[in-house]
Amino acid sequence: MSNVLSEIKNKTCYITINRPDKLNALNQATLQELDKTITDAKNNEEVRVIVITGSGDKAFVAGADINELAKTNSITGMQFAQYGQHVFNQIEHCGKPVIAAVNGFALGGGCELAMACHLRIASDNARFGQPEIKLGVIPGFGGTQRLTRLVGKGKAMEMNLLGDMISANQAEQIGLANLVVPQGELMNTVNKIAEQLSQSAPIALSMIIDSINHGLECAMGEALDYEVKAFGICCASQDKNEGTAAFLEKRQAKFTGH
Ligand code: COA
Repeated sequence: MSNVLSEIKNKTCYITINRPDKLNALNQATLQELDKTITDAKNNEEVRVIVITGSGDKAFVAGADINELAKTNSITGMQFAQYGQHVFNQIEHCGKPVIAAVNGFALGGGCELAMACHLRIASDNARFGQPEIKLGVIPGFGGTQRLTRLVGKGKAMEMNLLGDMISANQAEQIGLANLVVPQGELMNTVNKIAEQLSQSAPIALSMIIDSINHGLECAMGEALDYEVKAFGICCASQDKNEGTAAFLEKRQAKFTGH
């Protein structure tokens, strides 16, 4: 695999989209490699946190590959969108916290990839946008839906209809980025957050992700009921015994994921 690199360090799997000469644009081959890399990270017990970033200092991901988009018809276009959505759903529902280290342009499929992650930490040179309208299409990897849920209908309409880029600071203001840091500090900041998450209780982390994701898709009563069950699952874990004992014994908890 060369379009996607991965490396495991300190319980964190670092995944890098690696087509810097094409600003890390997602072609079919890259999406397939990303799919496999995410599945491997999800299934690897050593991995507690996943970080996704782009190669080089200019782009996170500048969108779906426009060379491939140019050749699509109605059927292949739908297949491409469906596959992209499948890969991004894998990320959103992988059960481990996924951080997007947004190191530059996050446009189209790049913005959608970042939104499928659970946290977005951006460098101050990052730019976010859904510019598909300028190509005569719409986002196909979740951009009309995840953006609306993240930032609300008004801003999602504006970004999708106008297709203009926004700065990292604007993205932070509307809740699209969690945090913006100077470019040179991006990976240090991301590493610190990954370290904190890698020492947290894995079952509880996955229940938080699951409850928030599921809860957004249903009515409040059902969502709260889901939370009750997820809470119950955590209460049956060894990590709950360890976390509560560590607090009472005034020591650092050591969570194992059981
Ligand atoms: N698909 C395919 N190739 C892409 C790409 C994409 N989404 N985005 C950038 N590239 C390629 C360019 O074609 C160029 O390749 P070349 O050197 O072989 O000509 C290379 O990456 C560098 O991009 P370039 O446009 O020269 O850089 P720039 O700094 O002038 O502009 C952007 C950067 C991000 C503003 C510009 O590349 C852009 O608008 N990209 C498309 C964004 C987009 O519409 N994404 C949604 C796609 S559905």
